[in-house]
Amino acid sequence: SKKVSHFVGILFLFQKKGLFKMIKKIQFFDTTLRDGEQTIGVNFSIEEKIAIAQQLEKWGIDVIEAGFPIASKGDFQAVQAVASSIKKARVTALARANKKDIDACVQATAPAIHKQIHIFIATSPIHRQSKLHMTKKEVLEKIKGSIEYAHHFFEIIEFSPEDATRTERTFLVQAIETAITAGASVINIPDTVGYTNPAEFADLFTYLRKNIPTFDEVIFSVHCHDDLGMAVANSLASIENGATRIEGTINGIGERAGNAALEEIAAALYVRKDYYHATDNINLKDTQATSEMISRYSKMPLPKNKAVVGNNAFAHESGIHQDGMLKNPQTYEILRPETVGGKSTRLPLGKLSGSHAVMEKLKEMGYPFDHESMKIIFPIFKERADKKALIDEKDLQVIMQQISEVKR
Ligand code: KIV
Ligand code: ZN
Repeated sequence: SKKVSHFVGILFLFQKKGLFKMIKKIQFFDTTLRDGEQTIGVNFSIEEKIAIAQQLEKWGIDVIEAGFPIASKGDFQAVQAVASSIKKARVTALARANKKDIDACVQATAPAIHKQIHIFIATSPIHRQSKLHMTKKEVLEKIKGSIEYAHHFFEIIEFSPEDATRTERTFLVQAIETAITAGASVINIPDTVGYTNPAEFADLFTYLRKNIPTFDEVIFSVHCHDDLGMAVANSLASIENGATRIEGTINGIGERAGNAALEEIAAALYVRKDYYHATDNINLKDTQATSEMISRYSKMPLPKNKAVVGNNAFAHESGIHQDGMLKNPQTYEILRPETVGGKSTRLPLGKLSGSHAVMEKLKEMGYPFDHESMKIIFPIFKERADKKALIDEKDLQVIMQQISEVKR
């Protein structure tokens, strides 16, 4: 296996240097029901959790984190209910590195056809000293003991060194190697407080690849938070550097500023196939519906300018942009709304709009048209648009009415 690992390492290096293009298969791990529910004010009912899990499965999620069974009776029951209703995706539950948490996961995930467990313990100095009151040695013992115990019940064990990006690199390697030796086959690198940046995260992956001889024998996953607005960028940087599983939530909901928004990562991998050379199981056409369901159940309206799924994501107001869009949509849209199951492109009319878009709108409304009349219509349109944020069909009807009265 050393030879295989060496070979994969060389392929990886060639790929980075652009000498060879290796298509990577990326797994999507959704934690909307666990980390997403840690959003202040969000509390999904069991029925909503089942509906969300089924929609996630339809969207193409590979692993669904259904909850943290030890946290409450309700969470335990929700994990059980999700585990019973999911057929294709793998269901996981979260556990701290102790037997009680693991036992709760064993029972709650029992009905699942495909399952795994997700065990975590913090490894950074601030967490070790101020939260856990544990030495490095004690943390390593906890990792070993909990993973060996979980191995009696689960074939697939995912281990997360919480706050990995603020952990000393040498200790992080020790923690990961302890987890792999004990039986973990998925290593998740959480950027728990959204501390890192894409270049630094890429460098961390290079370091891990160099210093963990079994790097290619396990799945490396990432779990990025958005405290500095870089969760999606950091996740994408990790894909370039060896991660093949991405964790996040729909609409990026989650603790504090939230988690990496999975719909944005899926869209980025699709739009920049030429760059990431990655494939996945996501059915992009179900993106908008998935996002709207989470927005509804979480009672968190989507920001209008939200990438990919926001109401303005495919709306163009300025004259130059509208003219470009009417000539060739690729001028200002790198992703078409129909690709993500979104509403169609809109060219709302406002004070910045140009005559081309106004003309097209009037044609669409059925007004007989010639360029001469536009010379009269357009200044009236501009005057009205200066006083009103958006000009709708009613406004245009009034303008056309005024003009026909003047002509008579
Ligand atoms: O952010 C985090 O570190 C977590 C872990 C439990 C993976 O959510
Ligand atoms: Zn998290």
